[in-house]
Amino acid sequence: MLEMRAVRLVYNEGTTTEVVAVAGLDITIPSGQFVTVVGSNGAGKSSFIQLVSGAVRPTTGRVVIAGTDVTRQPQHRRAGRIGRVFDNPHAGSVPELSIEENLALAMARGRRRGLRLATTRQRREQMRAPLANLGLGLENRLHDPVRLLSAGQRQSLTMVMASLTSPEVLLLDEHLAALDPGTASRVLDLTVGLVRRLACTTIMVTHNMEHAITVGDRLLVMSRGRVIADFDAEEKARLTVPELVGHITGAGDVVSDRMLLEESA
Ligand SMILES: Nc1ncnc2c1ncn2[C@@H]1O[C@H](COP(=O)(O)OP(=O)(O)OP(=O)(O)O)[C@@H](O)[C@H]1O
Ligand SMILES: [Mg+2]
Repeated sequence: MLEMRAVRLVYNEGTTTEVVAVAGLDITIPSGQFVTVVGSNGAGKSSFIQLVSGAVRPTTGRVVIAGTDVTRQPQHRRAGRIGRVFDNPHAGSVPELSIEENLALAMARGRRRGLRLATTRQRREQMRAPLANLGLGLENRLHDPVRLLSAGQRQSLTMVMASLTSPEVLLLDEHLAALDPGTASRVLDLTVGLVRRLACTTIMVTHNMEHAITVGDRLLVMSRGRVIADFDAEEKARLTVPELVGHITGAGDVVSDRMLLEESA
């Protein structure tokens, strides 16, 4: 279970550049739930993700993961429990290191203290299976530097890296945004399969209304640092794209072309 209790996040508090990024989040996400999050630019979606990952600390309020209050826990202390994939395909892996080296880093990151590192051979076997599942032939390119991969291949690799740590919580911040529609759709399928297999609590931020509705089992709409609509699986299944857009515009927020153009991607 992931809980946000009266969480506020204010940047540059008390100065002329003060920004209330999160104005009050009270959310309980049961273990294993897959939540999609939409909202216009600046609604606070990435801030929400960063608060969960520990990249930023709330100004007030509490973040609780599986009963443990992690509000003051530094990001690296919860890194083993949290998988994260960014919108930028280049952010999730180290370009000069090989696929194998990147995967080894991911494995080391998720390793519990005191646990022995696997031998190189064991490790390679552990890596090959999830890579082969991607169907991109990356399992035969273990020694290639990651910079040689396309954006879609790299984002797929980042998904595999995130999965190797068997995270309790998976955070996806517009992770399909830089991909062409076909690749986005493949990486989305991969995401759905991975979430199902890991049974991890997942938060997926997207500007794609269609994905927001069809993927996962709950949908949150954010506006100005708050959740303004919360649809469960049944309500979500009945929701249409125009209705969802209506929730965003109804809050006085702008719906970008991207949200609509990507609709059928
Ligand atoms: N480091 C920061 N310093 C100051 N203000 C920030 C910082 N990070 C975010 N903000 C502000 O907080 C608000 C929420 O930003 P956030 O990135 O969470 O929005 P978002 O919903 O992810 O938007 P987008 O769809 O554009 O990614 C915005 O007004 C943003 O300018
Ligand atoms: Mg964002």
